Amino acid sequence: MNIRDEILKELENHKGDYVSGGQLSKTLSVSRNAIWKAINRLKKDGYDIAAVPNRGYCLSPDNDILSVQSISKYLKHSLDIEVVPVVSSTSTVLKERAAQGAPHGTVLIAKEQTAGRGRMGKQFFSPVGTGIYFSILLRPDIPAAESLFLTTSAAVAVARAIEDVSSRKAGIKWVNDVYIENKKVCGILTEASFNIETNRLDYAVVGIGINICAPEGGFPKEIENIATAVFENQAESVNQSSVLIAHVLNYFFDYYKDFQNQSYVDEYIRRSIIIGKDICVIDGTQKTDALALKIDKNCRLKVRFDNGTEKWIHSGEVSIKLQTSENPM
Ligand code: BTN
Repeated sequence: MNIRDEILKELENHKGDYVSGGQLSKTLSVSRNAIWKAINRLKKDGYDIAAVPNRGYCLSPDNDILSVQSISKYLKHSLDIEVVPVVSSTSTVLKERAAQGAPHGTVLIAKEQTAGRGRMGKQFFSPVGTGIYFSILLRPDIPAAESLFLTTSAAVAVARAIEDVSSRKAGIKWVNDVYIENKKVCGILTEASFNIETNRLDYAVVGIGINICAPEGGFPKEIENIATAVFENQAESVNQSSVLIAHVLNYFFDYYKDFQNQSYVDEYIRRSIIIGKDICVIDGTQKTDALALKIDKNCRLKVRFDNGTEKWIHSGEVSIKLQTSENPM
């Protein structure tokens, strides 16, 4: 880490309190002049830092800039995190890095995506200032069929983290969407590369996009009836994105470490919002009406089609049929 980043770490760890120049220079083993120069660089980057003689430097508690340092102070696992202002898609970039050998536990976080991707080839709305977009690179030694657990455990991690930072209740729409009050607040896209001979995963990239606040002027027309955000307004969300990301990662890697026991599955089932509802099962171009019956320990969904046949499904997409609106969720 360079001096600027080390100082940011110290200031983030003592956010709202003064840290003396002498203390910083001792902790980082650099001159007070070097500290002063690095503080000026941080100020140029937009950090609101008060400098008071005999007291030192203080990062304003309202300074809400997402950074490795603002997230790491809440993290309990050792991960290789990078925060970038803008990227095409965190998942696309991380898959490229995975192919070049990037290690397990690499996390790429962006404030904006210019080509955010959802499931089934859909675009994922990813503007700056209203959401957080991140992808996690994993190298699990598991059969390809078990990759569903990466998505479902991520959904539980997101639901929990949302409830940690807000007063909203989060539910899960099988298989990969997190909902608040019947609207989507988060989408998860898991992509994997597997070894064709062993049928085991080479790597997986779990991409997570969470709406933090609705954009000024609201969500775009195509999603305005189906999208929501964790917070009602910008003021409520101050400093919360860093906590939210860290909590998602903390829960997710807790579950990951306990992969064999699948300790999160009961919670996944409990949080499901589709059981007993009329749904539409989307398989490629085919759409079939059905009733959602139950989710089992393998996170498969049992459905009954209108012709009476029942089936366990473990992939694909479902939408909930609304009684009062023509917009399916
Ligand atoms: C979906 O709702 O269909 C899944 C959306 C997944 C979006 C996230 S945002 C971070 C990562 N990068 C992407 O391009 N997609 C995922």
